Amino acid sequence: MNVREKLPIFTLSAWSALQLAAVEQALTGWVACPTVAPAPADLGEAMRYAVLDGGKRLRPLLVMAASEAVNGNAHAALRSACAVELIHAYSLVHDDLPCMDNDVLRRGKPTVHVKFGQAQALLAGDALQALAFEFLTPDDGSVDAAMQARLCRMLARAAGFQGMAGGQAIDLASVGRPLTFAQLHEMHRLKTGALLQASVMMGAACGSSSSAARDALRDYGAAVGLAFQVVDDILDVTADSATLGKTAGKDAAQDKPTFVSLLGLQASREYAQQLRVQAQASLKDSGLENTHALHALADMLVNRAH
Ligand code: IPE
Ligand code: IPE
Ligand code: MG
Ligand code: MG
Ligand code: MG
Repeated sequence: MNVREKLPIFTLSAWSALQLAAVEQALTGWVACPTVAPAPADLGEAMRYAVLDGGKRLRPLLVMAASEAVNGNAHAALRSACAVELIHAYSLVHDDLPCMDNDVLRRGKPTVHVKFGQAQALLAGDALQALAFEFLTPDDGSVDAAMQARLCRMLARAAGFQGMAGGQAIDLASVGRPLTFAQLHEMHRLKTGALLQASVMMGAACGSSSSAARDALRDYGAAVGLAFQVVDDILDVTADSATLGKTAGKDAAQDKPTFVSLLGLQASREYAQQLRVQAQASLKDSGLENTHALHALADMLVNRAH
C-alpha cells in the first residue's frame, strides 16, 4: 500500500459536520445565553432568533478552512468564525427591514422585524454587531493581543463603509438603474464579497504564512466572494422560496440590478464557474498543502441549490 492510499480521504460533508458542531455550540453558548448573559426586554430572544437555528454557515466554514490551511490558533479561529457569522446575521436582519428589502421570510422563518417589531430588529442587529467584536477580544489569554487587534481591524473594515455597509448603500441607490459590469462588480465586491474574503483572511490571520500565500488566499477570497453573490442572484430567479428559505424573485420585483439582469442566466452561470476555477487556481498558487476544505468549499458555494 503506498502512502497516498493510507491517507484518509477528505469529504466536505464530514469535515463540515465537525466544524459546524463546534460553531453551533459556541454560538448557542455565547449569544445572549439566557442562563449566562441574559439581555433585557426580549432583546436576547431576538438576537438568538436571528443567529441560531438556520443559515448555511458558509462564512464560518471559510474561516475554519483557511485557519486549517495555515495551522492556525483554534481558539482564534472559532471566535473569528462566530464573529463573522454575527456580522452576517446582523446584516441580514437589517437587509430584511421594510426600509431596505422589506422581506418577510428568512432562513425559513418570519424575519426578525415580523416576529419582534422593527425597533427590536434594529437593536438586535446593533447588538449582534457589537457582540462580534467582543468575541474577538477574549481576556483569557487564549488569543494574543496583536492577533486580536488584527482580526478586529479586518472584520471592521469588511463590515463598514469599505465593505458590506458601503455595498448595501450602493444596492439601495441602484434600484431601477441599470449598472455597468464594472459597477455591478464593485457593488457585489463590497456588499457580499468583502465579508466572505474577510472570512478567508481572518482564518489565515489565525496562523502564519508567507506573504505570497496570503496574497493567493486574498485572490481566492475575492473570487469566491464575488461568485457567491452571482449565485445568489441566479438562485433568486431559478429557485423557489421553500428551497431558499427566503422570498424568491425579489430582485426582479424590486427592480434591483443583478448579474442575471445584466448578463442573463446562462452567462451568469458561466461567470460563476469561471470565478470558481480562478479561486481554485489561486489555492494552487498559494503553495499551501492543506487546502482541501477551501477547494471543496469553492465547489459547494458555486454549485449550491440554496
Ligand atoms: C445571503 O447569504 C445573503 C447574501 C449575502 C447574499 P447566505 O446565503 O449565506 O445566507 P444564510 O446565512 O445561509 O442564511
Ligand atoms: C444582501 O444581498 C447582502 C447583505 C449584505 C445582507 P441580498 O439582498 O441579495 O440578500 P438576500 O437575497 O436578501 O439574502
Ligand atoms: Mg439586499
Ligand atoms: Mg435582501
Ligand atoms: Mg439576493
